Amino acid sequence: MIDIAVLASGTGTNLAALLARPEVRDRIRLVLSDRPGAGALDLARGAGVDAKVIRFSDHPDRSSFSIALADAIEEAGAKGVVLAGFMRILSPAFVARFPGRILNIHPSLLPAFPGARAVESALEAGVAVTGVTVHFVDEEVDHGPIVVQEEVPVLSGDDPSTLHARIKEVEHRVYPEIVSAFVSGRLRLEGERVIWG
Ligand code: GRF
Repeated sequence: MIDIAVLASGTGTNLAALLARPEVRDRIRLVLSDRPGAGALDLARGAGVDAKVIRFSDHPDRSSFSIALADAIEEAGAKGVVLAGFMRILSPAFVARFPGRILNIHPSLLPAFPGARAVESALEAGVAVTGVTVHFVDEEVDHGPIVVQEEVPVLSGDDPSTLHARIKEVEHRVYPEIVSAFVSGRLRLEGERVIWG
């Protein structure tokens, strides 16, 4: 079993989906956010999970911010990190503290449309299909060994909000499955290889 910290900056609908799975919720030692108003904090506390804010602006640079996050995660006893809408880039030193033990979910079919505007960029590019990617995190942004991808069609008349809502439906089904496998040891990374079982 791997205890985890979940990092979230926003509303936390993916966190809610994780908390709804008992075998995942029971492994969440800490929810961390960089934003004091993040809905994810209330969701965590409502589920009896410790929640903490570490603000980027309280640190001189990304490196010391990332170290503060990593220290809090280790103090909570978590060995794995699950990013669920965390909008800050983590330093290479942070990634090295949890080697092969950081998961991220991204609202596109990576390597297409990395970054914070993935849904808008897919619409602007006029693609017929976008989707969801769950991947292990390496030193590059929205990059690393892919665990699973699922397509989501772009419909005529979609705007960022309708498309993102349809993408999140998939996220809320897929991420708890993947994180459940990760915390139970059924999913792991060996070097660059994703191993199941
Ligand atoms: C999700 O679309 C996720 O893929 C991306 O950020 C969004 C977070 O949404 N990384 P929420 O806060 O979980 O609702």
